[in-house]
Parts: sequence; structure tokens; C-alpha cells
Amino acid sequence: MSDRYVVIGNPVAHSKSPLIHACFAKQCHQQLVYDRLQPAQDGFSPAVFELIAGGAKGANVTVPFKQDAWRLATSLSERATVAEAVNTLSFKQGEIVGDNTDGVGLTRDIVDNLGINLVGKRVLLLGAGGAVRGVLLPLLALAPAQLVIANRTIDKATVLARQFSAYGDVVGGSYVDLAGQSFDVVINGTSASLSDALPPVPAGVFASGSLAYDMMYGKALTPFLYFAQSQGVATLADGLGMLVEQAAEAFMIWRGVRPQTAPVLQMLREQMV
Ligand code: ATR
Repeated sequence: MSDRYVVIGNPVAHSKSPLIHACFAKQCHQQLVYDRLQPAQDGFSPAVFELIAGGAKGANVTVPFKQDAWRLATSLSERATVAEAVNTLSFKQGEIVGDNTDGVGLTRDIVDNLGINLVGKRVLLLGAGGAVRGVLLPLLALAPAQLVIANRTIDKATVLARQFSAYGDVVGGSYVDLAGQSFDVVINGTSASLSDALPPVPAGVFASGSLAYDMMYGKALTPFLYFAQSQGVATLADGLGMLVEQAAEAFMIWRGVRPQTAPVLQMLREQMV
């Protein structure tokens, strides 16, 4: 019988993970099945125990269960511990092993796919929710000169910056504080794009030659990327590359082989037009 994996979320019907992992499995000649699971909002733990009882080998975890997965795991990687969120579970030898591949998905997309080196760069992260917490450690590991977190609710940004201060030069504050500052890389980690909104980022934050990155993706430019384009930013990227890269890292954890991401990313882009 093929090894079984699932993506657990609510809602989960839209998830591209089954398609991505099917492509990886084919490419790497791995026998596995990968499907979707949508427990009730309060039904995460029983769903995982049922999966384990049925012999499943692992799961990807998406909204709104990443913190439930972090609590349920019996052992955690450092990046999952620090993120306080888990997007990849492995079931082995009675353990529920939790990892978080979101951050490395983002940094691989920026460094390997977009060819941008973050060493010594000024990086601005918009938002201070779960998505931002999940990417802070891998971003700081790339040794930017400074990482600034700006959030509507200022306290959340300052608390996050304090919590991560041991890992690099990280400062938290408001959008207003950004006036007069510019950055080499500006990453939208807010959920504003979901409601077609633009975070209140002041004009002038984009340094010349900067990258604007939105962790969300869609058919059209997100409001943030549209704004960046209107400010003259030439390098725009959405979160589709991050999605494929976080999946590749999960696949590597489960199967011990690293799939090629470029053809899968290209296939998804072609499907979206
Ligand atoms: P996620 O897990 O996707 O990060 P979250 O933890 O609910 O979701 O966090 C959402 C983030 O998007 C928060 O930083 C939120 O700002 P607040 O903390 O001030 O609520 C931010 N956000 C959502 N909509 C926004 C908008 N229209 N403008 C600016 N920030 C927004």
C-alpha cells in the first residue's frame, strides 16, 4: 500500500498541496497518496489521531490549525518551536514530529528563485500575525542589516521584535514610523490582500532596485504589489513560489529527497492564467 499524507485545513478545498505533492512524487518516483482533510474547527486533534491509527505517515497543516499542530506535536524542530506554529507533521515511532517549513519556503524563493541575497540588506516585514512569526527566524538567519516589523496594532510588532532580538537586529513599530525610511526588500505578511486591502505603508519605503514580495498570491497583482509597481518597483513577487518551496521542504522531510521546484511552479502559474 502507498504511504498516505494529507493537508489538514478548514476550508481546504482550494489547497494546491495535493497537486504539488503529486507532481513531486511523480518527479521523484515516490509511491504515495496525498489528499485533503477538513475537520471541524475544534476537531483537529481527533482527526490527527484517526490519521495515525489509519497508518498515515504525515500531514501538512494550514489555516486555522497551525497552532493546534504546534500544541499537539510531541517533538518540535527549533524553527517550529520559535514560530509557535507547525505546518508539517511526521508520524513515526509513536511520535508526532512538528516542523515549520513556511519560513524556509520564503527564503528559498527569495534567495534561490529570485536570486536576491539578503546579507546586509534592510528588510521590512508588514504584519505581526502568525504568518510573520513563522518566517522571522529563517529571515534573520540570512543576516540582513536590519529587519523592521510594522503592524497596525503596534504592540504586536514590538513584542515580536523583542522575542526575536536574540537572532539579529530586529525592530518593531507602526506604519507611521516608516516615514522617511527605505528598504531593499519589503514583504507583505499581513492578511490584507484577502480582503483586497492595502496595508497603510507610506510611499517612499521602497529603495531603488528593491524587491516587493507578497506572501499571498492570486491571478492578478495583489493591492500591495500593485502599489509597489506604481511606486516604480521593478521586482514584484507573490507567494506562489513560497508555497511550492515550503511543500518541497516538507517532501524532503518525509521522503528524504528534494524535488525540483521550478517545473511545478511553472505549471501552477500556467494554470492560474
Ligand atoms: P496570519 O496567520 O495570516 O498572519 P493573523 O495572525 O490574523 O493571520 O494576522 C493578520 C495580520 O494582518 C495582522 O498583522 C493584522 O494586523 P493587526 O495585528 O493590526 O490586526 C494584519 N492585517 C490584516 N488586515 C490588515 C489591513 N487591512 N491593513 C493592515 N494590516 C492588516
